[in-house]
Amino acid sequence: MKYREFGKTGWQISEVGLGCWQLGGADWGDVSDERAFDVLAAALDTGVNFLDTADVYGLGRSESLIGAFLRERSESVYVATKLGRFPEPGWPENFSYNTIKAHVEASLKRLGREQIDLIQLHCIPSEVLREGEVFDSLRRIKAAGLVREFGVSVETMEEGALCLAQEGLVSLQIIFNLFRQKPIEKLFEDAAAKRIGLIARLPLASGLLSGKFTRETQFEASDHRHYNRDGAQFNVGETFAGIEFKTAVGLVEKVRERVSSEQGLADTALRWCLDHPAISTIIPGAKQTAQVQQNCAVSDLPPLSASIHRSLESLYHSEVSGVIRGPY
Ligand SMILES: NC(=O)c1ccc[n+]([C@@H]2O[C@H](COP(=O)([O-])OP(=O)(O)OC[C@H]3O[C@@H](n4cnc5c(N)ncnc54)[C@H](OP(=O)(O)O)[C@@H]3O)[C@@H](O)[C@H]2O)c1
Repeated sequence: MKYREFGKTGWQISEVGLGCWQLGGADWGDVSDERAFDVLAAALDTGVNFLDTADVYGLGRSESLIGAFLRERSESVYVATKLGRFPEPGWPENFSYNTIKAHVEASLKRLGREQIDLIQLHCIPSEVLREGEVFDSLRRIKAAGLVREFGVSVETMEEGALCLAQEGLVSLQIIFNLFRQKPIEKLFEDAAAKRIGLIARLPLASGLLSGKFTRETQFEASDHRHYNRDGAQFNVGETFAGIEFKTAVGLVEKVRERVSSEQGLADTALRWCLDHPAISTIIPGAKQTAQVQQNCAVSDLPPLSASIHRSLESLYHSEVSGVIRGPY
């Protein structure tokens, strides 16, 4: 596993982290406690030192499992969590200082820590980011010693730009994969100039870019790839990167035609993300230890060739960017 500087924090974080949405057991079908611990162990055993979770994943379950797991391990691990989407009390009360503080304290309790390494606003409304008071609250929470650093998880390039202007921000979490290339042009330069760490979520476009789905693939009713495939429950971009499923499966076949047949598609998709030095870490989610191990091994693969990068860039501009749904 290779490590990268995380913006201006001075932290060295694994370039492959672990996305822990799956461990909530709510939006990706069931996950037993035992399975969740195995996934976390597979990640740490392969050098992962960066975990991404949120208070709302399984209504605290993902954080509680991480807390219980880390109590048994001696490694130093950076835990990034998020707030803003917990249903109690809900929007807009979630954005007041008192609620932010209460939500941070609840996360600390579940994680069993005295300080949260990184707290991130969890895709909250653009108007709240634009208005800006929420950042004063984050600065107060940091000054109070409850969190070490703060960042924001955003949906759109405009939101990313708004956040980059905020004093004290250390990171942005963005949807970034070979179907979502806009950040390269719209955010990377500014983020690098300000030494902001970039966390790439959905590096596999919800598993699509592994190439294992067909147009006929069905998902469990409790999997967001079933109930949010067209954005019925939350932002459409968070499921299959916002592309209609059958269209997306066709586009994956076009990726397959353009890349080396020796390297699997999942490896290629993750390697594509890591080949961008502006990215600090990618956080693929997983429910299986074998997936975690495979994803971590991508850190040791050589970069994709310049011609594959050109070919995937051209595919994105000619066939993908026009079919992405939702604000981006
Ligand atoms: N708003 C936000 O801030 C936000 C939103 C979304 C996600 N996130 C964070 O980002 C993380 C990653 O995003 P994501 O989990 O939505 O999408 P993702 O990482 O693109 O896809 C994860 C899924 O891909 C499949 N997969 C993983 N490794 C694989 C491999 N080697 N081969 C084949 N399939 C593989 C698994 O699905 P199967 O079960 O089908 O195998 C897994 O559940 C989340 O866990 C969460 O921490 C944040």
